[in-house]
Amino acid sequence: MRIAVCPGSFDPVTKGHLDIIERASKLFDKVIVLVSFNPRKLNSAAFTIEERMKLILEVTKDMDNVLVDCHSGLLAEYLARTNACAIVKGLRAVSDFEYEFQMALTNKKLYPEAETVFLTTSAENMYLSSSVVKEIASLGGDISEFVPGEILDDINSRLFVPDQN
Ligand code: PNS
Repeated sequence: MRIAVCPGSFDPVTKGHLDIIERASKLFDKVIVLVSFNPRKLNSAAFTIEERMKLILEVTKDMDNVLVDCHSGLLAEYLARTNACAIVKGLRAVSDFEYEFQMALTNKKLYPEAETVFLTTSAENMYLSSSVVKEIASLGGDISEFVPGEILDDINSRLFVPDQN
């Protein structure tokens, strides 16, 4: 069985992530969406790991070969434990490339049995990121274009704090 892992912060999951997960699910027998620990985003998390997993579960519930898990250690260690053959990442713009390239090479060193597979993001999601979604929602803006409809209310109610003044 060919198992792929889609790792990320998913804080929260967006339509851009969902597009990559859906396409990966057509390429591999099993896809594990892995809510992972990004040391660079330590202090900027809006959702707990459990909340993020719940949102991903909701939007992937109709994808039979997609599972959701979390991991706080090295991705390479998780890949080895699950016998995964691929890491699937979405690439948006050239600005993503240097960081993603560095991670791909590092993961290859740490766990040579898995390949990193980059899927180019769909044109409509080029500009989309969880940070942008968080900023818009926290200021009361409309994020319906950016996140799946079934989790829109959950995200809004969690992020939008009306101005009390
Ligand atoms: O969505 P993100 O925040 O860009 O995802 C980055 C993530 C979580 C995939 C990356 O930070 C990661 O793999 N973290 C796990 C820890 C690890 O293995 N670090 C070494 C990778 S070079």
